[in-house]
Formats: sequence, structure tokens, C-alpha cells
Amino acid sequence: MELQNVIMLLLLTINLAVAQNTSREEAQELHVGVILDLGSIVGKMARTSVSLAMEDFYAVHRNYSTKLVLHIRDSMSDDVQAASQAIDLLENYNVEVIIGPQKSSQAIFISKLGNKSHVPVISFTATSPSLSSKTLPYFVRATINDSAQVNCIASMVKTYGWREVVPIYEDTDYGRGIIPYLVDVLQEVDARVPYQSVIPLSATSEQITLELYKLMTMQTTVFVVHMSFTLASLFFIKAREVGMMNKGYAWIMTDGVTNLIDSLNPSVLESLNGAIGVEFYVPKTKELDDFAMRWNMRFQIDNPTDPPLKLNIFGLWGYDTIWAVAHAAAKVGIANATFQKPGATRNSISLETLETSSNGPKLLQAILQNKFRGLSGNIDLSNRQLQISTFRIINVVGKGWRDIGFWTAQNELSQHLNKTRQATTHLNPVIWPGESIEIPRGFKIPVSGKKLQVGVCTSGYPEFVKVEKDHITGATKAIGFSVDVFEEAVKRLPYAVPYEYVLFSTKDDGSAEDYNDFVYQVYLEKYDIVIGDITIRYNRTFYADFTLPYTESGIAMVVPVRDSINKNTWIFLKPLEPGMWFGSIVFFIYTGVVVLILEFLGNNENVRGPIPRQLGIMIFFSIFEES
Ligand SMILES: *[C@@H]1O[C@H](CO)[C@@H](O)[C@H](O)[C@H]1NC(C)=O
Ligand SMILES: *[C@@H]1O[C@H](CO)[C@@H](O)[C@H](O)[C@H]1NC(C)=O
Ligand SMILES: *[C@@H]1O[C@H](CO)[C@@H](O)[C@H](O)[C@H]1NC(C)=O
Ligand SMILES: *[C@@H]1O[C@H](CO)[C@@H](O)[C@H](O)[C@H]1NC(C)=O
Ligand SMILES: *[C@@H]1O[C@H](CO)[C@@H](O)[C@H](O)[C@H]1NC(C)=O
Ligand SMILES: *[C@@H]1O[C@H](CO)[C@@H](O)[C@H](O)[C@H]1NC(C)=O
Ligand SMILES: *[C@@H]1O[C@H](CO)[C@@H](O)[C@H](O)[C@H]1NC(C)=O
Repeated sequence: MELQNVIMLLLLTINLAVAQNTSREEAQELHVGVILDLGSIVGKMARTSVSLAMEDFYAVHRNYSTKLVLHIRDSMSDDVQAASQAIDLLENYNVEVIIGPQKSSQAIFISKLGNKSHVPVISFTATSPSLSSKTLPYFVRATINDSAQVNCIASMVKTYGWREVVPIYEDTDYGRGIIPYLVDVLQEVDARVPYQSVIPLSATSEQITLELYKLMTMQTTVFVVHMSFTLASLFFIKAREVGMMNKGYAWIMTDGVTNLIDSLNPSVLESLNGAIGVEFYVPKTKELDDFAMRWNMRFQIDNPTDPPLKLNIFGLWGYDTIWAVAHAAAKVGIANATFQKPGATRNSISLETLETSSNGPKLLQAILQNKFRGLSGNIDLSNRQLQISTFRIINVVGKGWRDIGFWTAQNELSQHLNKTRQATTHLNPVIWPGESIEIPRGFKIPVSGKKLQVGVCTSGYPEFVKVEKDHITGATKAIGFSVDVFEEAVKRLPYAVPYEYVLFSTKDDGSAEDYNDFVYQVYLEKYDIVIGDITIRYNRTFYADFTLPYTESGIAMVVPVRDSINKNTWIFLKPLEPGMWFGSIVFFIYTGVVVLILEFLGNNENVRGPIPRQLGIMIFFSIFEES
């Protein structure tokens, strides 16, 4: 028994060794450059995923005759460093695929290098829509561009009825890329962008605080934050310090922060309380749980000094990207990779002489055509980017977060993914900043800022407008019907309009003025608006727009009244028509006659006598016969 087991094990080991030996012997190597910011969380995460993916892929596909050889380089969060690494990889290592770079700004140059040398550049983190695969055919996005999530954000803005939104973004290609798309979709849901706040990547705490104070003085309280992880961490801590994480504010984070929410410092998470965020949605599966466990262990080994991180979507995309490339390599069977050097003598500094990869077009085609089920879902790069249409919306609460709904291109917002389209969009209730459950109105009365100048003057009819000056404060006060109408209208506006009354008077006593002149002041831009019992006259309409009249004009026509009341004595006949009267009389007589005849025939003594008496009796019967 024991021996048998040992032999079995031995056989297995030998088999394994043979297999490894043969595959190594015959394997054709495909050199792949991986450029990541290895100091960043995403970089570290991706590195672990990439090495796990290599192991897993070749454990599953032992007989593949191709093998990827990874050259992992650190771009040190620097565009120039990333570029020089890419050139080095292309020139000295003849890499045929570049995975990465991590940042959109780095990708701009590297994707052009790839385009030139026919080396596919596959980034699973560069989301800026300014990188277009249309002009750069060798650039493949193993993620989705940022313009996809703007519709989700706009749906939320619409659902919560906000009319103004201020985007806050970092001053990089990544930050700027989304803005034109965001502004466009917000316009479609009737939301204005009164201001855009740009935060430089190098901003200090003081600069951020200053910018926040500026935002605080404005009336809009809905913000969309689109920044990378590090800047956002600092930003939200400052936002909380200045009191912008209180009741009345609404914060929406794009996926840049939300995808990494589990990696945030607890103190940052605390200052994020009440914010809502958009992130890519990956359904939970058993496979994923198993992988996450292995990944966690490996991450600890790779980064022994780092606190444990939670695997997120970038880790999954990194893993799936390696699989996509390895599949493609196997399919193309990169037997003899050659790099064609241009005729000119090589000068290592000149990019003119960059060699082109003979396998490039075939590899690119294989990567684009290969569809498989990866850890993050279906991997289909045929559009040169992933086809993701589901976003999850989360609300940061306490030390964690919870789902408040999903957004899909077909169903827009819904509480659950599965529900078919509902008439009204419902999201789970959100706990807003300041632990409030009230949906923020989206505006507040600004602390400073220009006020609407409302011209007023005392009317000849003080019931309409009466202007008084407060002797102590010197402020102008106005009362009256027209003033009430104006104030009620302002209250109903969906945003705050601060205003102040300004007295229009050329006389010292502030009495009634020439209304023509009064209206003309609006044209002169002395006032933004004038209110009063102003008649809409033809020549005044050249200088100002009038509201719809809210009182009658007072113009009337005087005409002699013809007395229509009928003073006729026969007015009492009116209630019934003549036919009715006639019928009634006929029945009256008929009843009397019938009763009289019956009494007569019955030999009643009382009904006999002269005609007038008989007539009297007949009438008596007609009236009292019933009772
Ligand atoms: C693996 O290959 C090497 C030579 O390439 C050979 O010497 C060695 O014996 C092989 N190992 C096995 C287990 O076959
Ligand atoms: C590897 O082996 C499997 C069967 O075990 C086969 O279906 C597949 O085609 C093989 N692949 C290659 C590249 O030889
Ligand atoms: C990319 O390469 C193609 C030819 O392969 C060329 O037509 C196109 O202009 C290049 N794009 C850029 C941005 O250089
Ligand atoms: C961004 O993604 C959307 C679909 O999500 C697509 O329609 C658009 O063309 C993409 N833009 C770029 C520049 O790739
Ligand atoms: C690889 O090169 C050999 C000669 O070196 C040639 O016979 C073979 O056809 C080449 N294979 C491919 C796929 O180009
Ligand atoms: C979602 O819908 C599918 C069928 O469309 C069903 O099989 C599945 O159980 C549903 N999932 C949930 C969580 O309701
Ligand atoms: C409108 O016409 C009246 C006379 O009909 C004139 O007195 C007045 O100045 C005009 N108003 C303006 C604003 O021109």
C-alpha cells in the first residue's frame, strides 16, 4: 500500500518533470514588456496578478509550444521614465507586446511607439477617452474608457433632481479626458456646469483647502470627483476638514476612486462618508473567491512589508490581459519572430530606425479576435476595448460601503440587476453626508457672490408696491402685491437666487416715478429686473421682457346697462312652460268635473243647486278631493 503510493507519486513527479522539460525545450519564446508604476497600489496589485496569471495559464495549457517571457519594468509614475522603458524594451529585448502602461499620460507616447513598430500596446488601466484606438490601431484597452460611466452619473443627477453640478478633476490626461463627455451628458439631463475645478497633481494641502473654500462660497453643492487614488485621498480629508462633508452636500466619485475603495485608508474612508461612487461591476463567483484567496497569499509574499490589500478589478484585468496575450501567442505560433530593421544604419537615439515586428499584425488580430471567459467576466476586445455595460453604484457608510443600485445601458438605474425595466427608477436609500437621509437639494444660498438687483419704486397704488428704507440698516424694503408675486416666484425656482431691492427714485421723497424711465433702467443694465404694477405697453417691450400679466389690465368698456329683469306681473308663470300650465288646468277641471258627476249620480244632496254653487263645489273637489 505504502509502496504503491510512493511509486505513484514518483511516477507523477517524473511525468511532470518530463512535461516541463519538453515544453521548455520546444517552447518558442514571446517577449512581452510590462510597464507599471510598481510603487502604486494598482502597480503592485497588477504585478502579483500578472505573475499568477503566467503560472495559471501554463499550468492549464501545458502542451502549448509558445511561452511568454515577461519583462516587468517600473515606470515610477513618470511619463518620461515609462517612455524610456518602452524604447529600451523595444530596442534591446525585441518585445512583441507591451502590457501597460498604467497611466493615460504615459500611454499617449507608448501607444504611438507601438503603432510605429507594430507592437500591440494593451493597457488595462489607461481609461482616458483621449486615447483613441481609431487613430492608433495598435492600442488596445483591456478596460473601458471613462466616457462610459458619464451616462451613469447623468442618470443619477437626473434621478436626484439636481440642476447644477461642479466637476472636480485632476489636471492630467486622465482627469481632463472625461470632462467634455460629462458636460455633454449633463446638458442632456438639463444640469448646468457653472464651474469646473481643476486640481494640479502636485497640489499641496493648502492649495486644496483654498480651492475648497472657493467652492464653498458657490451655490452648487453637488460635486463629481474624478481623480486618481492618491490625490483623492488627500482631497477628501481636506474636504471634510473645511466642512464640505456635511449635510446639504452631495459627492459623486468616478470609478478612479471607487474601484479602489477597499484599499483606502480608514481615515480617508471616514471622510468619504455619505459620498456615492460608480464602479465596474464584477459578479461574485466561486472561482473569483478562490482566486482572491490565492492572490492575497501571493501578494503578502511579493510585498512582505505592505499591509494586505483587497483584490480589485485592476488585479483581475491584469490577470485576464496576460491570458489574452498568451492565448494569442499560442494561436499565432510565433515561430520565427523577426524584427525588420529599416535600411538606415541604426542610431540608438533616433526613433526613426525603430524596428517593426513581423508578428505584430497577426498578434494584434489574434488578441482582438480571441473571446474567452476571464475572471472579470467575458473578455472580448474586438472593439479594441472591453464591452462592459454594468456599473455598480455604492454609498460609503461608516467604515465600509453598500450597494445602492446598478446602472446598465439598457435598464439605466435599477435597484437590482435582474429586474426588468421599471417605470420609475428606484435606488436604495442613500445616507448622504452628515448622516442625512434627505436628498441634498443641490444648492445653497451662496455666502458671497453677486445678488440680483431688483428695481422697485413706490406705486401710485401702494397696495402693489410700497418701498421703505430701514432707517437703521439702510436696507431697502418693499411690500405689496407685486412684491409678493415676485418673492413667491423666486421661491419656486429650482436653485437659489439671492436678490436685493434697489429703490428707483429721482425725487427725494421716493414717490411715484415715470414708469417709462423705470423700465428703461433694465435696458441700461442698472437693474436686472424691475417689479411693480407696470403696464405692458408697446414701446416698453423694446427695452425689457415682461412676465405674463398677473393682474387684469384694468381697461374696461363703459356701456349703458339694459335692464334685463322682467318686471312683468306674470313672472310667476315662468317656472312652467305654457303646455304644462295648460295641462295642469285641464286636469284641474277634469278632476272637479269627474268628482262632481260621481257625487251627482250618487244623489248627494249637497251638490245640487244653482250653477255658481255647483261650480264652487267643483273647484272645492278639485282642490280637496285628494286629502
Ligand atoms: C531535460 O532536458 C535536459 C537537456 O535539455 C536533459 O539533460 C535532462 O535530462 C532532461 N530532464 C528530464 C527529466 O528529462
Ligand atoms: C494541447 O492538448 C489538448 C488536449 O490535451 C489539445 O486539445 C490542444 O489542441 C493542444 N494544444 C496544442 C497547442 O497543442
Ligand atoms: C498609426 O499607424 C498607422 C499605420 O500603421 C498610421 O496610418 C497612423 O497614422 C498611425 N497613427 C499615429 C497616431 O501615428
Ligand atoms: C469610449 O467608449 C464608448 C463606449 O463605451 C465608445 O462609444 C467610444 O467610441 C469610446 N471612445 C474612445 C475614444 O475609445
Ligand atoms: C521559421 O523559420 C524557418 C527557417 O528558419 C522556416 O523554415 C519556417 O517556415 C519559419 N516558420 C514561420 C512560421 O515563419
Ligand atoms: C436573475 O435572472 C436570472 C434569469 O434571468 C435568474 O436565473 C437568476 O436567478 C436571477 N438572479 C437573481 C439574483 O435574482
Ligand atoms: C412710450 O411712449 C410714450 C408716449 O406714448 C412716451 O412718453 C414714452 O417716453 C415712451 N416710452 C419709452 C420707453 O420710450
